Amino acid sequence: MSPTYYITTPIYYVNDKPHIGHAYTSLACDVMARFKRLDGYDVMFVTGTDEHGQKVEKASLAADLDPQSFTNIVSQNFWDLACLMGFSQDDFIRTTETRHIAAAQSLWCLLRNNGHIYLDYYEGWYSINDETFYSEADVKNLAGQHIAPTGAIVERVKNPSYFFDLSRWQEKLLAFYEANPNFIAPESRRNEVIGFVKGGLRDLSISRTNFKWGIPVPDDEKHVMYVWLDALTNYITAVDFPKVTSKYTQYWPADLHIIGKDILRFHAVYWPAFLMGAGLEPPKRVFAHGWWTNDGKKISKSIGNVIDPIALIRTYGLDPVRYYLMRDVPFGSDGHFLEPSIIKRMTSDLSNDIGNLIQRVLSMVAKNFASTVPIPGKFTSEDIALLASANALLVVVRRHFDNQAFHKGLEEIFYVIKYANKYVDDHAPWALRKSDYERMATVLYTLVETIRYIAVLLQPIMPTSCAKMLDQLAVPVNARSFNQLATKCRLVPGTRLPKPESIFPRWVEPRGVLDID
Ligand code: MSP
Repeated sequence: MSPTYYITTPIYYVNDKPHIGHAYTSLACDVMARFKRLDGYDVMFVTGTDEHGQKVEKASLAADLDPQSFTNIVSQNFWDLACLMGFSQDDFIRTTETRHIAAAQSLWCLLRNNGHIYLDYYEGWYSINDETFYSEADVKNLAGQHIAPTGAIVERVKNPSYFFDLSRWQEKLLAFYEANPNFIAPESRRNEVIGFVKGGLRDLSISRTNFKWGIPVPDDEKHVMYVWLDALTNYITAVDFPKVTSKYTQYWPADLHIIGKDILRFHAVYWPAFLMGAGLEPPKRVFAHGWWTNDGKKISKSIGNVIDPIALIRTYGLDPVRYYLMRDVPFGSDGHFLEPSIIKRMTSDLSNDIGNLIQRVLSMVAKNFASTVPIPGKFTSEDIALLASANALLVVVRRHFDNQAFHKGLEEIFYVIKYANKYVDDHAPWALRKSDYERMATVLYTLVETIRYIAVLLQPIMPTSCAKMLDQLAVPVNARSFNQLATKCRLVPGTRLPKPESIFPRWVEPRGVLDID
């Protein structure tokens, strides 16, 4: 049986249309899911929408709709984005689904029955926008307006509330981080979380009575669940919790939650504490990526500097956008979103490096070998060196992807692409046609085989372009996974190849629409 791999995106708030920041988190998960599938894993990749809470209730009122109709519309936007971005999710969770409500209520009951929930009053500074309470120390009084560190307005509230006994989890959480050094990544984020937990934890208010749009607390319907307890549960809803099905036993605990750094505390502190409190296993790893900024500020709807993924894809195409997002900024760091950088990557990496390599090699093969894979003669040490560098890629790229260092994995692949281009220049196969036809065949065979490696390995990042590349090499669809990256699976000399077509055309500035009066 194949090993399993369970990966999740955060579930997205449905208070507005998706932007590039949302697309980014899901893209990273999609890349990871595709990589693992190609590497022989039985993958489950889950995404979805977070549909409860006061923010959504307010947004639906503003749109003059009931919350359910409102969330149906906005959730659809996230579904459409997933289709447009080519995401390969196996499940799409909506927190308003019956299966999820049952899961969240079951988790609540486990926590309550294990003695981790009690009823009290909560008085504090609450931000509707951030859906969280802030401590006295965090709140600033600016001319009578109380403001949280995020810039959100907070208001004083005192309400009956259920509490989770988070303050009792400090030692257990620290022991858990110690025993599981890979649980939080990158390293800097892990240190941040450990510092936060060492600073002491306060019990967490986990129910609300001041609005209705949420999952009712079992046996006390005046309360709805705190949206984060509700939302985090989606990760186990997707594996059939509270039923212990084969899905649950195969996929839980999740291998990886990829999230943005703004929601790390919820995933790395609250979530493992909730799960341990309920007697369930915490996930294996949480990776917090950085933010995309525009004009130096986090891209967000509230700031009003959003970048629309749909427009980007329309302009540049899907694969170049996927490549840019995964290549330009180290995963884990913040990055400035710059359209000229997309064009730069398209020109230098995609057209000049990979596009040019394929174009040169395949057109020479078509012209000189009647569109068949050339029959190689004896390989020289230089041919063997290039093939060996392609052959060595899988281990290195796997190591980087397993650490979510996607940019580093790509750097390695592009190093081999550049090496292959230099090999073309050095061996000038076009000049061998008359002088040494067999040598020409060997050089071109070495190159098509190198391209096969590159195309197989780049599939998680640029699935459509790589499918075209592999079609051009006549690699059957069932021979495109990583176990085919072995010398015994090499391209068969003499195989017929289709007519070469350009895969990464040069970027051309779109011409403006002419005004003809
Ligand atoms: N609903 C919660 C998550 C609950 S998970 C149990 C939430 N939703 S969100 O829609 O606000 O954000 C979802 C993801 O988008 C987060 O990982 C967040 O970091 C990411 N991004 C939102 N804006 C972003 C950028 N400008 N840049 C990169 N990612 C950002 O939080």
